[in-house]
Amino acid sequence: HTRKTIFSGIQPTGVPHLGNYLGALRQWVDVQDNAAPNTTMIYSLVDLHAITVRQDPKQLRQWKKESLSMLLAIGLDPNKSTIFHQSDVPAHSELMWILSCQASTGYLGRMTQWKDKTANEKDSSEKLKLGLFSYPVLQAADVLVHRATHVPVGHDQAQHLEFAREVANGFNHTFGTDALIPPETLISPAKRVMSLTDPLAKMSKSHPNPKSRILLTDSEEVIRSKVKAAVTDSIDGITYDPERRPGVSNLIDILYHTDSRSAYSSQEESAKDLAGRSMRALKERVADTVESTVKRIRASYEDLLHDEFYLDRVAAEGAEKAAKSAAVTMKAVKNAVGL
Ligand code: ADP
Ligand code: NA
Repeated sequence: HTRKTIFSGIQPTGVPHLGNYLGALRQWVDVQDNAAPNTTMIYSLVDLHAITVRQDPKQLRQWKKESLSMLLAIGLDPNKSTIFHQSDVPAHSELMWILSCQASTGYLGRMTQWKDKTANEKDSSEKLKLGLFSYPVLQAADVLVHRATHVPVGHDQAQHLEFAREVANGFNHTFGTDALIPPETLISPAKRVMSLTDPLAKMSKSHPNPKSRILLTDSEEVIRSKVKAAVTDSIDGITYDPERRPGVSNLIDILYHTDSRSAYSSQEESAKDLAGRSMRALKERVADTVESTVKRIRASYEDLLHDEFYLDRVAAEGAEKAAKSAAVTMKAVKNAVGL
């Protein structure tokens, strides 16, 4: 069997929501629980990425703790997966600098995320931060420093992974080395989960309306009230039609993806079963299904969050393992460059 290393990360910028879970985090746990013996799983809370926009230090510290608790609550096991805070392993920043000396500013300037985030600030380059521009270089360093072979990401990140491969190949070519391994992208199979209040936008940690997202910490009552308030339409009956019925279709997607033991083989089939029912019945079924998944996660999260001693130990041991993994690459990289 060939060696396989999976790397992925999430920003500790708030409690993960159902979109994070269905689109990314649940896959992390699946990979861990079904891994072949020579697979290494490395999952990072990417706090250095989080500071590419202004963060309140106290808030960020709290979010880091909450996010670590959540990774454990969903079922990541520190004995099987390496779980760590990115800033605890300086090799990420160190490799980023070395890669920055290879990366093309033209290529970075064409990144969709950079263009989106800066579209409103066209005339104020004084305000645009270098860290936001070089975000993909840090992301490339995250993956490459652990010699990741496979990186599970959402659709929005595919372009950044392409950049990481480009940088790795460029570096290897320039220095006549194989120190860096161009990673493969594993695009998440789950559809993008959309906002409950604005079904044309994705569910996101940063959407101003808290009713737009279901948090993995929400109580049953809160879940029910958010689903009840979800935007739908006044068309009769339940059909799956993302173009014409984005709100209803998003609820069906959530139902279909959340119920992992679902008897249905597609969203269309699950909609057919609900065809004669009311919107209220659909919403009740969505809320029941989400609650039955979130219930265990929420309870486990609450226990973990108060166990500071355990959280600190997990973070310290994760950082130690991640540092060892990164050191192998840094030695080869520095040697190739002449450092
Ligand atoms: P957010 O956009 O909410 O701040 P992150 O950027 O930290 O979330 O993303 C963490 C992971 O969750 C990424 O792999 C991303 O692709 C995935 N993700 C984020 N939002 C959604 C969504 N609405 N639906 C599906 N996956 C999502
Ligand atoms: Na994001």
